[in-house]
Order: sequence, then structure tokens, then C-alpha cells
Amino acid sequence: MRILGIESSCDETAAAVVADGREILSSVVASQIDIHRKYGGVVPELASREHLRQIVPVVREALSQAGMQLSDVDAIGVTQGPGLVGALLVGITYGKTLALSLEKPLIPVNHLEGHVHAVFLEAHKAGRAPKLPTVCLIVSGGHTVLYEVKSETPGADAAATKLLYRKLGQTRDDAAGEAYDKVAKLLGLGYPGGPILDRLAAASNGSPAPVKLGHTKMKGNALDFSFSGLKTAVLYHVRETPEYADEIRIREKALARGERKFEQLLPLCSAKTLGLVREFQNTVVRDLVERTLSAAEQLSAESILVSGGVAANSQLRATFEERAKAAGLEVFFPSRALSTDNAAMIAAAAYSRFRAGIVADAALNADPSLALG
Ligand code: KG4
Ligand code: ZN
Repeated sequence: MRILGIESSCDETAAAVVADGREILSSVVASQIDIHRKYGGVVPELASREHLRQIVPVVREALSQAGMQLSDVDAIGVTQGPGLVGALLVGITYGKTLALSLEKPLIPVNHLEGHVHAVFLEAHKAGRAPKLPTVCLIVSGGHTVLYEVKSETPGADAAATKLLYRKLGQTRDDAAGEAYDKVAKLLGLGYPGGPILDRLAAASNGSPAPVKLGHTKMKGNALDFSFSGLKTAVLYHVRETPEYADEIRIREKALARGERKFEQLLPLCSAKTLGLVREFQNTVVRDLVERTLSAAEQLSAESILVSGGVAANSQLRATFEERAKAAGLEVFFPSRALSTDNAAMIAAAAYSRFRAGIVADAALNADPSLALG
């Protein structure tokens, strides 16, 4: 069964064809980063407009890369939410129109379920299969949430069965990726913040932390996250330390000239800034890893899945590998391309939903705060 997946929930217009929920025949992503960069974050109106411009060529390209015509598609899977309403509506309207005119089923997909399936897609490529029940951390610019993932039919293949989700914890304020983006912005390091801070932290070469950024203790659910206090702690430290001002100004000028590459920004960072970036990343990584492992332990899970844009972080990956190994757990990540928003994960999730009998009709609407579990 070849499913065309369509994703437009945030700032990526994406289309992909996936066979039987496992084999990626094509995956095309048009990123809008260059459009939103100068605003330091996603501007919803601009996102919708750009999705409108991109949706048709992106779907066409996905079909062409899969060597298919529209009539070869067996079903259409589309992101219903969560996300930006205007952005979601572009993908939903196009998906609906295609499904109606081709007389093929339309399958509504929760974006977060897509991120879970991104891990199964990657595992399948490597001939592996995560054992269920599992704990999945979805960590991106919009989400930081922990789920227990079980199969309705124990022992069944995750791609072909209905998965059951239970939310274990989530961020009470900012998402982890959002904290990366805000800290990068206040340090004059551009947008998005994750990739550059990741590389600068790796280049810090043991520069001492100029400030201690402590672990966030949570009242109530110990599996909840919070990143806004951390971002504020960095902000106050930078404000209270006048030495940072000059280098931040110099980097902002470099960014304005389009010099935003790691190699261009690294020489403009003092050892103190590198130490600060490293301390910030240590704190985020420690927090994500500790809570996820603690959830896995509480549920006696056999594996851990990590997905979403921040799952591309090198220190997060290395720390999870190391800690999971010590705890006797297998850990699974998508490749970088499948970590960030894409439509292959939507097509894969659509397959398992279709097998569970879930289809939509022409009344399907966007749900900006669609919940999972
Ligand atoms: O999943 P994604 O593409 O979009 C959302 O659904 O948000 O994630 C984008 C987020 C951004 O906040 C970006 O800064 C962060 O993921 N990110 C990273 C890394 N690469 C992307 N954060 C930390 N380390 C990275 N290497
Ligand atoms: Zn996402």
C-alpha cells in the first residue's frame, strides 16, 4: 500500500511516499528557515503563504522521485494537528481535494504520532525493531513531551498495528528547541539556535562554565519539563556580565552580513561564551535524559525512542547511548532528516491508522491543539 503523506503543520512543506508504512520511496521537504530567520522565529502568516506556494510542487516532486503518478497512490495521509492552524489548513485542503478527486481514502494523522513513526522508519532501515512497550521523548521547537507507546496487539509489528499512547509528562512552558532558539538569539548566534549551539558546545574544549545553571526541580509530576527558567537564567547572566555585550554586537553584525556558519561564528566567540553554551547544553541534555530514563525505569520499558528536531543534537545522542547502555535499554533515534519535520513519518503513521480503520471524510478540519494520548 503506497501512501502519499503531506505535512504542513509548522515551517516545513513536506510530501513523501511510503510503502506499507516501512519503505520510504521518496521524501521531499521545503524548509522555510530563510523566510523566518530575520524574525528569529516562525511567523504564522508567512508560513501559511509559503505552504500555499510550495504544496503543489513539493507533492509533484515526491511523486516523481517515487516514479509514480497521482493515480498510483493508494491513500493520502495528512497532518491534522497539532500546529499552526493556517499552515495545517493548506495541507488538509490539498490532501482532501486529492483524496476526493482520486477517490482514495484520506487518513488524518497526529503530527506527534508522526514523530514516533519516524523512529520506526529509521529502525526498519537498519533491520531493527524497538521492543514495546517503549518510552518516546519527542523534543522539538514546538514540543517536549514523553509518551508511553504500546501496541494494541502485543508482539505485532509497530508499522502495521495500532499503537496506544499515554502521555507521561510534557513541558510546562517552553519546548527544549525553543530554549535553544531563544538562547542563540540573545547571544547573537542566529536562527535556528539548535545546530549552531550544538557545534559551539562541542568546540568549547573544557572552557569553564561562567555560571552554574542548575537542574529544574518540578513540583507535581516529576516527568514534566520546564525550560523557560533556564533561558531566563542565561539572559540574566548575560545582562549582569558586561563583557558579553561587545562580542554579541560583533556577531549580530556578522549575521546581518549573512555570515552565520559555524566556521564564521566560532572565531567571534570568547572562551566564556563557549563555556556558557556548553553549560546550557549540559543542563538541557541532563534534564531530557534523566526524566526519560526515569520514565523508562518506572514503566519497566525495554527501549527508548527519541524524536523531533532536538533529537539531532550530538551530545543528546551520545548521552542517551551511554546512559541507556548502562541501564540495559536499547535507544533509537531517527536520522537527522527524519528527526526534523518531514512527511515520510506522516505517511508511516497514516498506514498504521488506516490498518486500524481510521479514515476521514470531507469534513476533516485542522485541530491546532490535537492531543495524542
Ligand atoms: O522538529 P523541528 O524541525 O520543528 C518543530 O516541530 O519544532 O525542530 C526544530 C527545532 C528548532 O528549535 C531547532 O533549534 C532544534 O529543533 N534543533 C536542534 C538541533 N537541530 C535542530 N536543537 C539542538 N541541537 C541540534 N543539533
Ligand atoms: Zn515536529
